[in-house]
Amino acid sequence: MMITPLTKQEIQQFRAGTRGTAQRIHFNNAGASMPPDVVVETVVNYLTEEAMSGGYETEAKYHAQLENTYTLIARLINADKNEVALVENASTAWILAFNGIDFKKGDAVITSEMEYVTNLIGFLNAKKTHGIEIKVIPNDEYGNFQPAVLEKAITPRTKLIAITHIPSTAGAVLPVVEIGKIARKHGILYLVDACQSVGQMLVDVKEIGCDMLAVTGRKYLRAPRGTGFLFVRKEVQDQLKLTFMDGHTVQWVSGKDFKVRDDARRFELYEKNRALTLGLGKAVEYALDIGLDRIWLRVLHLAALMRRQLGNIDGITVHDMGDRKCGIVTFSIEGIDSAMIKSKLAEKQINVSVGKAVSTLLYMNKNHLKSVVRASVHYYNTEEEIMTMCDALVAIMNANIESRAEIQEPR
Ligand SMILES: Cc1ncc(COP(=O)(O)O)c(C=O)c1O
Repeated sequence: MMITPLTKQEIQQFRAGTRGTAQRIHFNNAGASMPPDVVVETVVNYLTEEAMSGGYETEAKYHAQLENTYTLIARLINADKNEVALVENASTAWILAFNGIDFKKGDAVITSEMEYVTNLIGFLNAKKTHGIEIKVIPNDEYGNFQPAVLEKAITPRTKLIAITHIPSTAGAVLPVVEIGKIARKHGILYLVDACQSVGQMLVDVKEIGCDMLAVTGRKYLRAPRGTGFLFVRKEVQDQLKLTFMDGHTVQWVSGKDFKVRDDARRFELYEKNRALTLGLGKAVEYALDIGLDRIWLRVLHLAALMRRQLGNIDGITVHDMGDRKCGIVTFSIEGIDSAMIKSKLAEKQINVSVGKAVSTLLYMNKNHLKSVVRASVHYYNTEEEIMTMCDALVAIMNANIESRAEIQEPR
């Protein structure tokens, strides 16, 4: 099916409704996107109403809208609303899922070299505490993950396949659908870290065939900071141990026993920030209204343009590898520290981030990368902004050459 590209007018409209875009060029969408004004207003208005009417009273008034956040998330990822739990970030979501698994000594987890640091620590901790084995499937020489290699690594002791869909500090997309087919075929639990992919592209839990999916709000979903969610497939919910419980997580409790509730909200606690819940819902609705396929098309176009433009500049190396790429562009400049590039760009009102080795440790170490500049585009960015960043980088490089020459030839 043909995807209709976003028009210039639509992009102008999105930018007009995102006040930050008038102030800065924001290429730190993989850190946190600029939220649409309507999302910010939703949160601020709700907080104001809480202050004026009372927290519980405001919650009662907005009950239907708060519930609707679950419905919207379910629609976003093609799940049932009873399979969604709201949490504060992707790490919490991932940890709740992973720590819920009943690992026994000798069980194995298969993963990739692109795993996020939270997940890597989780594996290492489970190795220490439960004696699990960690099998890391390396990318091939072109930076592609090979599902066939993963399938060969499966044994009767394989308890979990855990994959990061889009890594934090590399421009790649992992083949989560192909991996899901293997997980299903062998009946192995499948946990996907979709922190960087949800909001950037279509993510369909049924198509992926995952049991658990961890997501954050502030990145490509353009939701407020401190929001996120966990998807747990209905059939898997009873298999996971609960890390914490309160009155909200149970159907009933007597003096002698309790029964856990029948949906994914068993992974939540009662108290949460209702204003942010509403803001998250608004951001999801905003993305759905545009269409995730259209967002993805635009992101791919901008990222490809950025890679091409950066690649044309002598002295800049783009590090992204693999056949499938995303909106995250990583690069470095010979002789200039990534942190320095970030701060020099910031002086020109251009936001990028520094991708440190720790966040995607195995991949970065393997490729001898200590840090990279991470410039991540979203659909509301423009071609002109990319040109402005490239011009700024050339100016930074020229200034660096001049200052070096001065050091060598002091007058
Ligand atoms: C791939 C990936 N997974 C997980 C996380 C953790 O997300 P959060 O900070 O919301 O816990 C990040 C954060 O950058 C990430 O890039």
